[in-house]
Amino acid sequence: MKYEFTEEYHTGIPMIDEEHAKLFEIANRAYELLTNQFKMDKYDEIADVLEELKDYTKYHFGHEEEYMKSINYGKRFSQMHQHTQFIEKLESYDLKNIDENQQAGLLEIIDFLAVWLQGHIKGMDKRIPKVEA
Ligand SMILES: [Fe+2]
Repeated sequence: MKYEFTEEYHTGIPMIDEEHAKLFEIANRAYELLTNQFKMDKYDEIADVLEELKDYTKYHFGHEEEYMKSINYGKRFSQMHQHTQFIEKLESYDLKNIDENQQAGLLEIIDFLAVWLQGHIKGMDKRIPKVEA
């Protein structure tokens, strides 16, 4: 499986779409790691993916929020609320727990990511108005 950034996820706002594509890339890296049967100990890679995910989402949410503010988008506060919850969830993952059952830990992250990307991008980000700069 590859989690594809298909057209149904496009917002039409280039900066946001590019950054969402990158989030899909990170999700796919986590999935590749899950299905890699040759690697016995995946701890370092899991830690890397999780770290990158946290850094990149913060960076991306910052951009998205800046854009919503610049166009005075009325629904930006519910957006920001979801963003905060997403970051909190990522911060709550405990690498020690994940290390006890790496595959289960990876699966949990991947499922969370897939459900969230799907719900948030399709349900909220696609409604952000496209305004020419
Ligand atoms: Fe968003």
